[in-house]
Amino acid sequence: MQYRRPIVLALLWLPMFFSTPVLAKAKSDPLSARWNPLHFKPAIENARDEQCLACHQDILKRKPLPKSPAGVKASDTHAWYQDLAGYSGPQETFHRRHLVTPVAKRLMKFHCNTCHQGNDPRDEASGSSETAQKGLTLRKSVDPDICLMCHGRFNYKVMAGLDGDWPQVRDTFNNDCITCHKEFRTKRHKVNFLNEKEIEKAGAENSDSCYGCHGGRAWYAIPYPYVRRPWLERMPEVAPEWTKNRPKDYDPRFYK
Ligand code: HEC
Ligand code: HEC
Ligand code: HEC
Ligand code: HEC
Ligand code: HEC
Repeated sequence: MQYRRPIVLALLWLPMFFSTPVLAKAKSDPLSARWNPLHFKPAIENARDEQCLACHQDILKRKPLPKSPAGVKASDTHAWYQDLAGYSGPQETFHRRHLVTPVAKRLMKFHCNTCHQGNDPRDEASGSSETAQKGLTLRKSVDPDICLMCHGRFNYKVMAGLDGDWPQVRDTFNNDCITCHKEFRTKRHKVNFLNEKEIEKAGAENSDSCYGCHGGRAWYAIPYPYVRRPWLERMPEVAPEWTKNRPKDYDPRFYK
């Protein structure tokens, strides 16, 4: 009987070979993957990009269509903001513009969960009640407050010395933000999705880089109410009226 033992032991391993593909299948089945705990709080708060990309590789791979259905070439259609210094390369998708383009890699340090904070895939779609519009998919899974931080208006009204929007006054200031901002609000970009040092370098090379996040790509009609971090030199002793309702700090997750 003794000689059979290795065979029995080998047989014990067999279920492993069968169960592995079964498990893999369960993981990649879209219906259950959609309910993967990583999509929800609290797991999403500590999710690493690789974990999301294991299923969502297409997010960084997808490219825009080379032409529109009507035949207009993507390469022929530059929007106004695509003429700012720093803009480069062919047309790219939204995710690539924030995660992998040269500008994104230099100035920003986004992670999936900087924007994605989890959402309820069942209730946010508009089909969830009798009266809702049918056939419409809503994927409002990102808090647009974060978009406004870099895509709001240039708030010249709070900038003493500026009496018009940047395009009107920029020539008077040699298209330069630093002349003033080496004195005002010098404690800036201290959040985990920005590359503070590179931003200052890029801004010193060309202030279009600053403007790019502070009015140059404004998708909104309003400016972002930034936290006013106290700075050391030449900070006015009395805080201006408009600072009254400003929050004292950003969400702690921006410092983790
Ligand atoms: C196990 C695979 C898997 C992992 C890991 C995963 N996802 Fe998903 N995700 C899916 C599937 C499948 C869907 C549903 C796709 C559909 O309905 O078209 C989905 C949907 C989504 C959606 C759309 C939500 C909606 O309701 O429309 C977002 C946004 C998303 N995932 C982001 C993430 C982020 C961010 C992470 C990491 C924190 C992540 N996913 C991790 C598989 C995964
Ligand atoms: C700058 C913010 C931002 C970052 C960073 C970001 N996303 Fe998104 N993502 C969005 C927005 C906005 C949408 C569209 C949501 C909507 O339609 O309302 C979206 C949509 C999606 C969707 C569903 C729609 C689609 O295009 O398939 C998936 C999946 C997704 N993101 C995954 C990811 C993953 C994975 C990462 C990290 C590699 C990531 N996102 C990083 C903002 C972001
Ligand atoms: C930290 C600053 C920052 C935040 C936050 C941010 N963006 Fe952007 N966004 C940029 C920069 C910089 C570019 C230009 C990138 C480039 O030129 O490659 C850009 C480009 C874009 C573009 C233009 C893409 C193109 O190729 O035409 C859109 C649309 C956009 N952002 C939407 C959003 C939305 C929606 C959000 C919120 C989910 C968001 N952004 C959050 C900085 C930001
Ligand atoms: C004439 C000087 C001057 C110039 C030029 C200038 N700023 Fe300002 N900026 C200010 C002053 C003054 C403040 C407000 C200081 C305070 O909080 O008391 C300010 C505030 C800001 C704020 C914070 C706004 C808020 O609501 O909290 C941002 C962002 C900003 N400037 C960006 C820029 C950028 C980008 C440029 C160039 C495109 C620029 N500024 C050019 C003087 C200037
Ligand atoms: C990639 C986008 C981006 C670029 C480029 C950028 N900013 Fe900002 N800026 C932000 C965001 C987001 C915030 C709010 C978060 C923070 O201050 O940490 C901010 C905040 C500020 C503030 C308010 C800070 C405070 O606490 O009082 C000032 C002033 C400012 N930026 C000026 C500039 C100047 C000057 C440049 C060019 C040297 C510049 N920004 C370039 C995104 C950007």
